[in-house]
Amino acid sequence: QLSVLHNFKGILFSTMSSKELLNSLDSFDAREDDVFLVSYPKSGTHWVAEVIENIPNAGITLTSPIEFGDISKFEELKAYSKRRVIPTHLNYDMLPVNVKQKQCKIIYIVRNPKDTAVSLFHYYRDNPNLPCVETWAAFFELFLRGDVVYGSWFDHILSWEEHKNDKDILIIFYEELKKDFAKSLKKITTFLDINVNDNEINKIASKTSFSEMKNNAVKENFDPNHTICALTADRNLVFRKGVVGDWINYFTSKQKRVFDELFTEKMKHSEVARHLKEFS
Ligand code: A3P
Repeated sequence: QLSVLHNFKGILFSTMSSKELLNSLDSFDAREDDVFLVSYPKSGTHWVAEVIENIPNAGITLTSPIEFGDISKFEELKAYSKRRVIPTHLNYDMLPVNVKQKQCKIIYIVRNPKDTAVSLFHYYRDNPNLPCVETWAAFFELFLRGDVVYGSWFDHILSWEEHKNDKDILIIFYEELKKDFAKSLKKITTFLDINVNDNEINKIASKTSFSEMKNNAVKENFDPNHTICALTADRNLVFRKGVVGDWINYFTSKQKRVFDELFTEKMKHSEVARHLKEFS
């Protein structure tokens, strides 16, 4: 198999994120009103992006991920005149220095890691831009070791959580979006200083439901250069099940034990971890 991933400073990236681009991230010229939509892969990025796009009069443009493409990326991003919403799966340390200096707003999406692992397993199987993986058991080991695209889930979350108070960061939970959509949406709109009324909230909810988004993906022709995910532009690969708790159909009791032990150890000081436990 031709290599679809490459190792950049110890973390695996898609070859669609060129080394030159990854090396030059710090030369990105951020604008003060940029919003970064950050997540570990399979945490609900497409969903939240669609929610933001459907906010009336938001005055924003959703761009492709900052790490997707080659060195011409920054020229492409310059061309947008509206407020940019820029998705990324980068960890905190790799985020362009300018974004940190200018205190750009950041929405960080978190999803329970067991469901994230199962979702990423299916992405590995279905997405030709990711390596082949034979079994769930084999993938589970890779995920535990952080030997997957964008590295360890734990390291990703912790890198961002460490900075949640010194930057303008809003943390959104996939599970909370599922449980109380209006509450999560209001958090997002308040954070972005946009007003929405109840009627608008209901409209956004129905336009961004799993079934609606899945059906639309089937109808769309995709543009390979316009994507929310640096791992594919084909939205048909994204909408799989869209539920909370599917991990139970994959994890053996031993895998659950091993995972929970690692989680407890790695996340012992994490407030995000405590929230995730409340949802499960
Ligand atoms: P599953 O594979 O568990 O179904 P990302 O957008 O970060 O790649 O995340 C993809 C995951 O979010 C997939 O999870 C996908 O089904 C789920 N998802 C996408 N849109 C959704 C929606 N509108 N409602 C609920 N889940 C959604």
